[in-house]
Amino acid sequence: MASVKILPQKKIFEIATGKTIQEGTGELDVGILYGCRSGRCGSCIIRVVENMENLSHPEKRERVILRNLMATPEERLACQARVLGDVTVEGAG
Ligand code: FES
Repeated sequence: MASVKILPQKKIFEIATGKTIQEGTGELDVGILYGCRSGRCGSCIIRVVENMENLSHPEKRERVILRNLMATPEERLACQARVLGDVTVEGAG
C-alpha cells in the first residue's frame, strides 16, 4: 500500500501499489477532473509536488498527451500514473 496526498485539499488516501491515482480516487471530489479515463483526453492532468520517483514512468500514450498539452516535467495524467510509493500531487480543479 502507498499513501497519496492531494493538494490543496490535503486529502490523503491509501492505494494498492501498482494502481493508478484515478483508481485510488474513484469518485471522490479531490479536484482532479476525469474525462476518458484512458489516457486520451488529458483532462486529468496533475502536478506532482513530492516523490515523482514513486510514480511509474509514463508510457507512450501518456507521453504523447503530455507533449500535446505542453506539460511541464512535474505534470502527469492521474488515469495513467501508477503509484509505486508515497506521493503528493496537486489537482487542477
Ligand atoms: S481522464 Fe482522459 S487522459 Fe486521464
